[in-house]
Amino acid sequence: MVEALSVKGLKKYYKPRGRFVSKGSFVKAVDGVDLSIPEASIHSVVGETGSGKSTIGRVVAGLIEPTSGEVFVQGTDVFNSSKKEMRDLRKKVQIIFQDPYSSLNPRFTVMRIIEEPLKLNKIPFKSDQITEILRKVGLTPPEDFLNRYPHELSGGQRQRVAIARSFVIDPTFVVADEPVSMLDASMRVSFLDLIAGIQRERKISMMLISHDISIAYYLSSRINVLYLGKIVEAGDGEEIVNGPLHPYTKALIQSVPKLGKIEKKSVDIKGNIMTSSSEITGCKFRERCIFAIDICRKKEPELVEAKPNRLVACHLY
Ligand SMILES: Nc1ncnc2c1ncn2[C@@H]1O[C@H](COP(=O)(O)OP(=O)(O)O)[C@@H](O)[C@H]1O
Ligand code: SF4
Ligand SMILES: [Mg+2]
Repeated sequence: MVEALSVKGLKKYYKPRGRFVSKGSFVKAVDGVDLSIPEASIHSVVGETGSGKSTIGRVVAGLIEPTSGEVFVQGTDVFNSSKKEMRDLRKKVQIIFQDPYSSLNPRFTVMRIIEEPLKLNKIPFKSDQITEILRKVGLTPPEDFLNRYPHELSGGQRQRVAIARSFVIDPTFVVADEPVSMLDASMRVSFLDLIAGIQRERKISMMLISHDISIAYYLSSRINVLYLGKIVEAGDGEEIVNGPLHPYTKALIQSVPKLGKIEKKSVDIKGNIMTSSSEITGCKFRERCIFAIDICRKKEPELVEAKPNRLVACHLY
Protein backbone atom coordinates (compact mmCIF):
# COMPACT_ATOMS: atom_id res chain seq x y z
CA MET A 1 0.00 0.00 0.00
CA VAL A 2 1.24 3.49 -0.84
CA GLU A 3 1.71 5.53 2.30
CA ALA A 4 0.32 9.05 2.63
CA LEU A 5 3.75 10.30 3.69
CA SER A 6 7.18 8.77 3.62
CA VAL A 7 10.15 10.87 4.74
CA LYS A 8 13.63 9.38 4.76
CA GLY A 9 16.83 10.91 6.09
CA LEU A 10 15.45 14.44 5.91
CA LYS A 11 17.92 17.24 6.64
CA LYS A 12 17.39 20.96 6.38
CA TYR A 13 20.27 23.24 7.28
CA TYR A 14 19.85 27.03 7.22
CA LYS A 15 22.38 29.80 7.06
CA PRO A 16 22.12 31.45 10.47
CA ARG A 17 20.27 34.75 10.70
CA GLY A 18 21.85 37.82 12.27
CA ARG A 19 25.02 39.79 11.73
CA PHE A 20 27.48 38.12 14.05
CA VAL A 21 27.58 34.63 12.64
CA SER A 22 30.71 32.74 11.81
CA LYS A 23 31.33 31.90 8.18
CA GLY A 24 30.35 28.43 7.08
CA SER A 25 28.19 27.74 10.16
CA PHE A 26 24.61 26.61 9.79
CA VAL A 27 21.51 25.88 11.82
CA LYS A 28 20.69 22.18 11.65
CA ALA A 29 16.93 22.74 11.87
CA VAL A 30 16.15 19.18 10.77
CA ASP A 31 18.94 16.66 11.08
CA GLY A 32 18.08 13.20 9.78
CA VAL A 33 14.36 12.55 10.26
CA ASP A 34 12.43 9.48 9.09
CA LEU A 35 8.65 9.56 9.23
CA SER A 36 5.77 7.71 7.68
CA ILE A 37 2.03 8.26 7.87
CA PRO A 38 -0.47 5.68 6.59
CA GLU A 39 -3.46 6.80 4.53
CA ALA A 40 -6.41 8.32 6.42
CA SER A 41 -4.43 8.70 9.67
CA ILE A 42 -3.28 11.63 11.75
CA HIS A 43 0.27 11.46 13.08
CA SER A 44 1.88 14.29 14.98
CA VAL A 45 5.25 15.97 15.40
CA VAL A 46 5.70 17.49 18.84
CA GLY A 47 8.47 19.56 20.43
CA GLU A 48 9.32 22.98 21.82
CA THR A 49 9.55 26.05 19.64
CA GLY A 50 12.77 25.88 17.66
CA SER A 51 12.85 22.09 17.44
CA GLY A 52 12.33 22.09 13.66
CA LYS A 53 8.63 21.20 13.37
CA SER A 54 7.57 23.92 10.93
CA THR A 55 10.63 23.23 8.79
CA ILE A 56 9.52 19.60 8.40
CA GLY A 57 5.98 20.80 7.60
CA ARG A 58 7.18 23.24 4.96
CA VAL A 59 9.42 20.70 3.30
CA VAL A 60 6.65 18.09 3.27
CA ALA A 61 4.23 20.61 1.74
CA GLY A 62 6.87 21.36 -0.92
CA LEU A 63 7.31 25.00 0.14
CA ILE A 64 11.05 24.75 0.81
CA GLU A 65 13.69 22.37 -0.49
CA PRO A 66 15.50 20.01 1.86
CA THR A 67 19.28 19.97 2.20
CA SER A 68 19.08 16.21 1.69
CA GLY A 69 16.70 13.31 2.09
CA GLU A 70 13.58 12.04 0.37
CA VAL A 71 9.95 13.07 0.72
CA PHE A 72 7.15 11.08 -0.90
CA VAL A 73 3.55 12.26 -0.54
CA GLN A 74 1.03 9.65 -1.69
CA GLY A 75 3.69 8.05 -3.83
CA THR A 76 4.91 11.25 -5.51
CA ASP A 77 8.51 12.33 -4.96
CA VAL A 78 8.00 15.94 -3.84
CA PHE A 79 11.42 17.09 -5.04
CA ASN A 80 12.00 14.92 -8.05
CA SER A 81 8.90 14.72 -10.20
CA SER A 82 7.63 15.98 -13.51
CA LYS A 83 5.75 19.27 -13.72
CA LYS A 84 2.51 17.41 -14.31
CA GLU A 85 2.99 15.21 -11.24
CA MET A 86 3.73 18.33 -9.18
CA ARG A 87 0.61 20.09 -10.47
CA ASP A 88 -1.46 17.06 -9.50
CA LEU A 89 0.22 16.92 -6.10
CA ARG A 90 -0.48 20.59 -5.38
CA LYS A 91 -4.18 19.89 -5.80
CA LYS A 92 -3.99 17.22 -3.12
CA VAL A 93 -1.78 18.81 -0.46
CA GLN A 94 -2.65 21.74 1.77
CA ILE A 95 -1.05 23.38 4.79
CA ILE A 96 -2.91 25.09 7.63
CA PHE A 97 -0.66 27.72 9.18
CA GLN A 98 -0.45 28.68 12.79
CA ASP A 99 -1.17 32.34 12.29
CA PRO A 100 -4.35 33.25 10.41
CA TYR A 101 -3.43 36.94 10.73
CA SER A 102 -0.47 36.69 8.42
CA SER A 103 -1.68 33.84 6.23
CA LEU A 104 -4.91 35.56 5.06
CA ASN A 105 -4.53 38.35 2.52
CA PRO A 106 -5.97 41.46 4.25
CA ARG A 107 -7.10 42.94 0.92
CA PHE A 108 -9.19 39.93 -0.09
CA THR A 109 -12.75 39.21 0.97
CA VAL A 110 -13.56 35.85 2.56
CA MET A 111 -15.04 34.70 -0.75
CA ARG A 112 -11.90 35.55 -2.67
CA ILE A 113 -9.65 33.99 -0.03
CA ILE A 114 -11.52 30.69 -0.25
CA GLU A 115 -11.78 30.75 -4.05
CA GLU A 116 -8.08 31.39 -4.47
CA PRO A 117 -6.74 27.83 -4.10
CA LEU A 118 -9.42 26.60 -6.55
CA LYS A 119 -8.44 29.24 -9.09
CA LEU A 120 -4.70 28.77 -8.60
CA ASN A 121 -5.08 25.05 -9.23
CA LYS A 122 -7.50 25.65 -12.14
CA ILE A 123 -10.20 23.58 -10.45
CA PRO A 124 -13.68 24.40 -11.81
CA PHE A 125 -16.13 25.25 -9.01
CA LYS A 126 -19.61 26.54 -8.29
CA SER A 127 -20.40 29.21 -5.72
CA ASP A 128 -22.35 26.63 -3.65
CA GLN A 129 -19.02 24.99 -2.89
CA ILE A 130 -17.84 28.15 -1.14
CA THR A 131 -21.01 28.52 0.92
CA GLU A 132 -20.99 24.83 1.77
CA ILE A 133 -17.43 24.88 3.12
CA LEU A 134 -18.22 28.04 5.15
CA ARG A 135 -21.16 26.24 6.68
CA LYS A 136 -19.00 23.21 7.40
CA VAL A 137 -16.48 25.28 9.37
CA GLY A 138 -19.27 26.98 11.32
CA LEU A 139 -19.37 30.37 9.61
CA THR A 140 -23.14 30.63 9.32
CA PRO A 141 -25.07 31.97 7.64
CA PRO A 142 -22.33 32.00 4.98
CA GLU A 143 -23.86 35.03 3.23
CA ASP A 144 -22.92 37.13 6.27
CA PHE A 145 -19.25 36.30 5.80
CA LEU A 146 -18.63 36.17 2.06
CA ASN A 147 -17.97 39.87 1.61
CA ARG A 148 -16.12 40.55 4.84
CA TYR A 149 -12.39 41.26 5.08
CA PRO A 150 -10.09 39.51 7.58
CA HIS A 151 -9.97 42.60 9.84
CA GLU A 152 -13.74 42.40 10.18
CA LEU A 153 -13.50 38.93 11.72
CA SER A 154 -12.58 37.69 15.19
CA GLY A 155 -9.47 35.51 15.68
CA GLY A 156 -11.62 32.37 15.83
CA GLN A 157 -13.51 33.32 12.66
CA ARG A 158 -10.23 33.97 10.86
CA GLN A 159 -8.94 30.56 11.79
CA ARG A 160 -12.20 29.06 10.50
CA VAL A 161 -11.62 30.86 7.18
CA ALA A 162 -8.07 29.48 7.07
CA ILE A 163 -9.42 25.96 7.66
CA ALA A 164 -12.13 26.45 4.99
CA ARG A 165 -9.51 27.61 2.49
CA SER A 166 -7.37 24.54 3.19
CA PHE A 167 -10.23 22.09 2.80
CA VAL A 168 -12.11 23.64 -0.13
CA ILE A 169 -9.97 21.91 -2.76
CA ASP A 170 -10.69 18.54 -1.16
CA PRO A 171 -7.09 17.75 -0.22
CA THR A 172 -6.07 14.20 0.53
CA PHE A 173 -3.04 15.21 2.61
CA VAL A 174 -2.92 18.14 5.06
CA VAL A 175 -0.11 19.57 7.14
CA ALA A 176 -1.66 21.35 10.14
CA ASP A 177 1.05 23.53 11.74
CA GLU A 178 -0.10 24.56 15.22
CA PRO A 179 -3.66 25.01 13.94
CA VAL A 180 -5.11 26.13 17.28
CA SER A 181 -2.23 27.84 19.04
CA MET A 182 -3.49 31.36 18.30
CA LEU A 183 -6.93 30.60 19.71
CA ASP A 184 -8.21 31.03 23.24
CA ALA A 185 -7.92 27.84 25.26
CA SER A 186 -11.74 27.74 25.52
CA MET A 187 -12.05 27.45 21.73
CA ARG A 188 -9.33 24.89 21.06
CA VAL A 189 -11.26 21.67 21.62
CA SER A 190 -14.09 22.69 19.29
CA PHE A 191 -11.53 23.52 16.57
CA LEU A 192 -9.74 20.21 17.04
CA ASP A 193 -13.12 18.45 16.78
CA LEU A 194 -13.89 20.43 13.64
CA ILE A 195 -10.60 19.40 12.00
CA ALA A 196 -10.98 15.77 13.16
CA GLY A 197 -14.56 15.66 11.84
CA ILE A 198 -13.56 16.81 8.35
CA GLN A 199 -10.52 14.50 8.39
CA ARG A 200 -12.63 11.46 9.28
CA GLU A 201 -15.43 12.27 6.87
CA ARG A 202 -13.09 12.74 3.90
CA LYS A 203 -10.47 10.18 5.01
CA ILE A 204 -7.74 12.79 4.80
CA SER A 205 -4.20 11.94 5.89
CA MET A 206 -2.68 14.53 8.16
CA MET A 207 0.57 15.59 9.77
CA LEU A 208 -0.28 17.58 12.87
CA ILE A 209 2.40 19.87 14.28
CA SER A 210 2.14 21.10 17.86
CA HIS A 211 4.31 22.27 20.73
CA ASP A 212 1.59 20.95 23.03
CA ILE A 213 1.66 17.17 23.50
CA SER A 214 -1.92 17.18 24.81
CA ILE A 215 -3.16 18.43 21.42
CA ALA A 216 -1.15 15.76 19.64
CA TYR A 217 -2.61 13.17 22.01
CA TYR A 218 -6.16 14.41 21.41
CA LEU A 219 -5.96 14.29 17.63
CA SER A 220 -3.33 11.80 16.51
CA SER A 221 -2.78 8.07 16.70
CA ARG A 222 1.02 8.26 16.63
CA ILE A 223 3.31 10.86 18.20
CA ASN A 224 6.83 11.74 17.06
CA VAL A 225 8.76 13.78 19.62
CA LEU A 226 11.31 16.10 18.04
CA TYR A 227 14.26 17.69 19.82
CA LEU A 228 16.74 19.93 17.98
CA GLY A 229 15.90 18.49 14.60
CA LYS A 230 15.91 14.81 15.59
CA ILE A 231 13.20 12.41 16.64
CA VAL A 232 13.93 11.30 20.20
CA GLU A 233 10.83 9.18 20.78
CA ALA A 234 8.06 7.83 18.54
CA GLY A 235 5.13 5.53 19.16
CA ASP A 236 1.42 5.12 19.75
CA GLY A 237 -0.03 8.30 21.31
CA GLU A 238 -1.88 6.53 24.14
CA GLU A 239 1.16 4.43 25.04
CA ILE A 240 3.56 7.38 24.96
CA VAL A 241 1.39 9.57 27.15
CA ASN A 242 0.83 6.80 29.68
CA GLY A 243 4.38 5.46 29.62
CA PRO A 244 6.90 7.91 28.15
CA LEU A 245 10.46 6.63 28.04
CA HIS A 246 12.64 9.55 26.93
CA PRO A 247 13.30 12.13 29.70
CA TYR A 248 12.33 14.92 27.29
CA THR A 249 8.96 13.31 26.52
CA LYS A 250 8.37 12.87 30.26
CA ALA A 251 9.03 16.58 30.76
CA LEU A 252 6.68 17.55 27.92
CA ILE A 253 3.91 15.47 29.48
CA GLN A 254 4.60 16.79 32.91
CA SER A 255 4.19 20.34 31.67
CA VAL A 256 0.55 19.61 30.82
CA PRO A 257 -1.76 19.28 33.82
CA LYS A 258 -4.11 16.29 33.74
CA LEU A 259 -2.41 14.32 31.02
CA GLY A 260 -1.26 10.74 31.26
CA LYS A 261 -0.51 8.65 34.31
CA ILE A 262 3.04 9.68 35.11
CA GLU A 263 3.59 11.19 38.49
CA LYS A 264 3.71 14.93 38.04
CA LYS A 265 6.80 16.75 39.15
CA SER A 266 8.77 13.50 38.96
CA VAL A 267 10.73 14.72 35.97
CA ASP A 268 12.12 18.15 35.55
CA ILE A 269 14.29 19.66 32.90
CA LYS A 270 16.71 22.48 33.18
CA GLY A 271 16.95 25.52 30.94
CA ASN A 272 15.24 25.68 27.59
CA ILE A 273 15.96 24.67 24.03
CA MET A 274 18.18 27.73 23.55
CA THR A 275 20.64 26.45 26.14
CA SER A 276 21.19 23.39 23.95
CA SER A 277 23.12 23.48 20.75
CA SER A 278 23.09 21.14 17.82
CA GLU A 279 26.91 21.29 17.96
CA ILE A 280 27.04 19.76 21.44
CA THR A 281 28.80 16.37 21.61
CA GLY A 282 26.98 13.28 22.83
CA CYS A 283 23.27 13.58 23.64
CA LYS A 284 21.96 17.02 22.65
CA PHE A 285 19.59 16.97 25.60
CA ARG A 286 22.24 16.18 28.20
CA GLU A 287 22.68 19.65 29.68
CA ARG A 288 19.00 19.71 30.57
CA CYS A 289 18.64 16.08 31.59
CA ILE A 290 18.54 15.05 35.26
CA PHE A 291 19.26 11.43 34.32
CA ALA A 292 22.44 12.09 32.34
CA ILE A 293 25.20 9.52 32.84
CA ASP A 294 28.81 9.48 31.73
CA ILE A 295 28.25 8.05 28.26
CA CYS A 296 25.71 10.80 27.48
CA ARG A 297 28.60 13.25 27.15
CA LYS A 298 30.57 11.10 24.76
CA LYS A 299 28.16 9.35 22.44
CA GLU A 300 25.00 10.49 20.74
CA PRO A 301 22.24 7.94 21.35
CA GLU A 302 20.68 6.36 18.26
CA LEU A 303 16.96 5.98 17.69
CA VAL A 304 16.30 2.31 18.46
CA GLU A 305 13.28 0.11 19.13
CA ALA A 306 13.28 0.11 22.92
CA LYS A 307 10.15 -2.04 23.00
CA PRO A 308 7.61 -3.16 20.42
CA ASN A 309 6.28 -0.22 18.44
CA ARG A 310 8.38 2.33 20.37
CA LEU A 311 11.47 4.13 19.13
CA VAL A 312 13.67 5.96 21.65
CA ALA A 313 17.03 7.73 21.40
CA CYS A 314 18.42 7.60 24.94
CA HIS A 315 21.28 5.68 26.56
CA LEU A 316 18.97 4.58 29.38
CA TYR A 317 17.25 2.14 27.00
N1 LIG B 1 14.65 30.70 7.17
C1 LIG B 1 15.43 30.42 8.21
N2 LIG B 1 16.72 30.85 8.28
C2 LIG B 1 17.52 30.54 9.32
N3 LIG B 1 17.13 29.81 10.38
C3 LIG B 1 15.85 29.36 10.39
C4 LIG B 1 14.94 29.65 9.31
N4 LIG B 1 13.74 29.06 9.61
C5 LIG B 1 13.90 28.45 10.80
N5 LIG B 1 15.16 28.64 11.27
C6 LIG B 1 15.72 28.07 12.53
O1 LIG B 1 15.57 26.68 12.47
C7 LIG B 1 15.21 26.16 13.74
C8 LIG B 1 13.91 25.40 13.63
O2 LIG B 1 12.87 26.31 13.32
P1 LIG B 1 11.37 25.85 13.07
O3 LIG B 1 11.36 24.79 12.03
O4 LIG B 1 10.56 27.06 12.83
O5 LIG B 1 10.98 25.18 14.47
P2 LIG B 1 9.58 25.06 15.24
O6 LIG B 1 8.49 25.09 14.23
O7 LIG B 1 9.70 23.75 15.95
O8 LIG B 1 9.52 26.19 16.18
C9 LIG B 1 15.16 27.35 14.69
O9 LIG B 1 16.43 27.43 15.32
C10 LIG B 1 14.96 28.52 13.76
O10 LIG B 1 15.48 29.70 14.31
S1 SF4 C 1 20.94 9.92 26.55
FE1 SF4 C 1 21.52 10.58 28.58
S2 SF4 C 1 21.35 12.82 28.55
FE2 SF4 C 1 20.27 12.02 26.76
S3 SF4 C 1 18.16 11.85 27.43
FE3 SF4 C 1 19.09 9.86 27.80
S4 SF4 C 1 19.84 9.94 29.89
FE4 SF4 C 1 19.40 12.04 29.29
MG1 LIG D 1 6.73 26.31 14.15
